[in-house]
Parts: sequence; structure tokens; C-alpha cells
Amino acid sequence: MTIVKMQHVMSNEISKRSFLSRPPEPPSSILLNDPLNSIYIGNTKIFKIPFAWNFDNVTNPHIAVVGITGAGKSYFVKTFLIRANYIWDTNAVIIDWASEYKSWVKQSGGTIISLGKGDYLNILDLAGMKPLDRVKQIIGAFEILTDISSYPEQRRLTEEALEQSYANFGFNIAERPPENKDAPTLKDVIALLQEQLQSGGYEYPAELENAIYRLRQFARPGEDFFSRKSTLNISKLATSGMVDIDLSGLSDDTFRALATLFILQTLKEKMRFEGFSETKGIKTFVVLDEAWKVASDDRSDAITIVREGRKYQFGLLVATQNPTDINEAIYSNVGTNFILRIKFEKFLDYIQGSLNFSSFIRSEISNFGVGQAAVDMSFTTSMKFPEVFVLDKIKGEEPLYIYTISLSDILTQAEVSANILPKDYQFEADELKNKLINYNVSGDSINTIFTKLNSQNRSMNMSDFVKLLYANNLSINDIVSLLKSMSIEDILITRIISTSGVKNG
Ligand SMILES: Nc1ncnc2c1ncn2[C@@H]1O[C@H](COP(=O)(O)OP(=O)(O)O)[C@@H](O)[C@H]1O
Ligand SMILES: [Mg+2]
Repeated sequence: MTIVKMQHVMSNEISKRSFLSRPPEPPSSILLNDPLNSIYIGNTKIFKIPFAWNFDNVTNPHIAVVGITGAGKSYFVKTFLIRANYIWDTNAVIIDWASEYKSWVKQSGGTIISLGKGDYLNILDLAGMKPLDRVKQIIGAFEILTDISSYPEQRRLTEEALEQSYANFGFNIAERPPENKDAPTLKDVIALLQEQLQSGGYEYPAELENAIYRLRQFARPGEDFFSRKSTLNISKLATSGMVDIDLSGLSDDTFRALATLFILQTLKEKMRFEGFSETKGIKTFVVLDEAWKVASDDRSDAITIVREGRKYQFGLLVATQNPTDINEAIYSNVGTNFILRIKFEKFLDYIQGSLNFSSFIRSEISNFGVGQAAVDMSFTTSMKFPEVFVLDKIKGEEPLYIYTISLSDILTQAEVSANILPKDYQFEADELKNKLINYNVSGDSINTIFTKLNSQNRSMNMSDFVKLLYANNLSINDIVSLLKSMSIEDILITRIISTSGVKNG
């Protein structure tokens, strides 16, 4: 009897205490998910619980990733997509603004579409859509990207010419067309407006001239990326494994945004039309990394995908260094936020205001090293636990490339012939990256170091390597300790440091 009473008192005590100071992380029942149905991200900072993401207990599958340049956003996205593909067979359409994903997608066996460098997109292509819907979308994109909404008459003329061009090509503009029927291009639309101008029958020729001028921006020789026959099958984008849409070959942000808006609408239509089929996980992730107006404008289809994605198993993954670039309707509605290092107070204010975390978490975020992240999830359960927790580090996966540092510049001829000392040292990218992160090297510096190594076929002389580390803010002490951790003998280390000519102070 006494014991029971005692227990009763104790558990009462405990629940009281946990009410006063809530446990700092969600319970493991929430963090640990079925490994065959979730994506491992990393271990939590306090209790070291392996956190595997799925969206069963979250309001929706969409994800936002924010953090300064070099914080580790793209690395996270790659890790996430690879595992999602492995676990759920998830497809990905990556809108690759600055060509950051291209080589990785290539290595992973995905498809690269290089717009402006050999690949073209006819923005009048239908991919099974009704011409009227495409016309609305094109006008919508012009409204976001040009001044057309200030000129209603030009808007009307453009819309009519678009519709007429489809009709001239034998389409019924209110019906879904047969597959593979050739669509007109912007050049046909421009030609129609020009005929109208030349026939002289129209009352306000200046309006016609300006409408033509606006469309010509997208059809000039050399910049006619959107007014030629498409070189890709846009109907299949969402179901083709990993697809990288490399936009770096387009000459400005307006062109990149136009391509993105076109692709988003096509994906949205596919998503709605193909409807719901019961499969595990997410069918397709649409990735926007630094996508400018495309994620911020109220009229962007990124918002439609966020609103309706869950029921179609479509996820949006947005990554940006500037959280205020993400439309409020997206930011406050994504189920999961990954917050990597952020420095600017105004961005911290914005995120803290919208996600409501403690000043403790805020100060952690501003001091994060590369790959560290706070995670905020909008859980649907009524259980009470903190929605924001900190990950020790995103545990990534990079293709296993071997890097070689050669000692040929350090060893004497005699030592080489004697064959006692190793002639080179080898390591994997992640191994070195993690070491650099432990020495507080910034993500930008890590990128600089690897860009250099990669440009030399992943091999380098030891003294050049040491100079490169030194130029990227590793102190001599750090370099020495790094070389020791590669199990290089002390006598050699002394020689390496003096040969490379780096000096303290
Ligand atoms: N979690 C991590 N583990 C190991 N290396 C990482 C991690 N996150 C980022 N890196 C490395 O740091 C550098 C910068 O990361 P990156 O993803 O390009 O940053 P961002 O996209 O935020 O600018 C890259 O070389 C990347 O491979
Ligand atoms: Mg990046």
C-alpha cells in the first residue's frame, strides 16, 4: 500500500516538473520512425536520438530550408533526395538556378536539362493541358515578370493572339489536346500581332506595337529559349527519377523565372490530373533552391503545390538564404522547417516571429557550424512537446570519391626509392569535410577547397594542399593536427609545414 502511494506521489511530482520545464526534445516515438518508411537526417543534439523524417505526424510534406551561404542547404537537399529516392522511389524535379546540382545529379544517374545550352522549352507546349489553361498561365507569368498588368489593352491583345495561335494550329482551345500534337510558338503569336498591325484595322497601333515588343524579349535570336520547339518531354518530368533543370545558361533572372513558372504549372496540372494513387511516401519533390520571385509571388504555382500537394503526394522543397524571399503562404504552411546557420538579425526576427522558438534556440542558430540545424515541425498530434529541436549535424551522403594528396614534393629521391614511407594519402570527401567542420572552417571555405581539388582530378601535392588549407583560414596548429589525424609521422609534418612556407602570424 505504502509503495503504491509513494509511486503515486512521485509520478505526480514528475508530471508537475515536466509541466514547468518541458523536455527539450520531442519524444523518441516521434523522432524515430520506421527505417523503411522515413528519411534519416541526423542525431538530436541533447539526447542523441536518431531523427528520421516522415510526414505521418506533420501537417504536410513540404519543407523549407534556410541558412546563410555555406551553411549546408544544398548538401542537405542532396542527402534528402538521395534517401527519399532510395526509400520511396521519390522523383525529383530540381529547379537549379545556379547550376549547383548538375554534377551531382549526373553522378547519381539522373537527367540533366540545360536550358539555353542546347535545350529549349516552348512555353506554349501543352503537355496534355487545355490551351486556355496554358494561356492563362503564360499571361500570369508575364504579370509576375513584366509590366503587362499596367496595360490592360496590351494584356487583352496578347491573350487573344495566344488563343488565336492555338486555334490556327487546329486546337480546340477549351479541350485537352491529343498527345504529341505540335503547339505554336511565341514566334507565331508575334507574327499574328504583326499582321494585325500591318492590316491597319486596329484603332490603337501603339498598343499593338508595345505588346509585340514585350513578347520579342522572349524571341530574340540567341535568346529564343522559349520560342522554339521543346527539346524535352515536359509530360514526363515528374516521373523521370532525378531531373536537374539547369537554368544557369539563361541570360537573366526573368528568363529563369519564366522557365520555372512554366514548369511549376505543368507539374501542378499533372499532379491534379493524375490524381491520387496510394503509394508510400512522396511521389515527387519539386525543389526550388534560391528561386527569387518564383517562391515569393502570390500568384506563383509554388503556392498551389503547397496548398494541394499533400493529397497528391507531391512535396515542395524550398531552400534559400533569405527567408523573406519565401511567400508567407508557403513559409507558414510548410510542415517542416530546417533552420541552418543564420546571421542577420532581421532574418532571425522573421523566423522566430513565424515559428515562435525560444531565445536559447535563436542564439544556437546564430552560432551553428556547417551542417547543424534546428528543426521545426508542425505536428498534428495533440501530445505536448517542443516543436523545435536541434540536430547535432546533418549526416550526409556524398558519392564516394577518393582524394589523393601526394608526397612527391616532400620526400627525397632516396626516401622514394627506399619505399618505406607512404607516397600519398587518401581520404573521402565527407571525411575531410567533417574534419574541416570540426575546426570551424566555413562552408564557403570548404567549397573553395573542394572546387580546387575537383579541378585537379581530386589530387594535389601536399605543400599545395597545406597552402590551400592555410589560405582558407586553418591555423598552422589546425593543419598540424589535421595531418596527425591522417596518421602522418611527426618528422614529415615538420618538413611539410616548412616546405609549404606557411607561417604563423
Ligand atoms: N552536414 C554536412 N556534412 C559535411 N559537409 C557538409 C555538410 N553540410 C555542408 N557541407 C559542405 O560544406 C560546403 C557548403 O555547403 P553547401 O550545401 O554548398 O551550402 P549552401 O547550399 O547552404 O550554400 C559544401 O562543400 C558541403 O559539401
Ligand atoms: Mg546552396
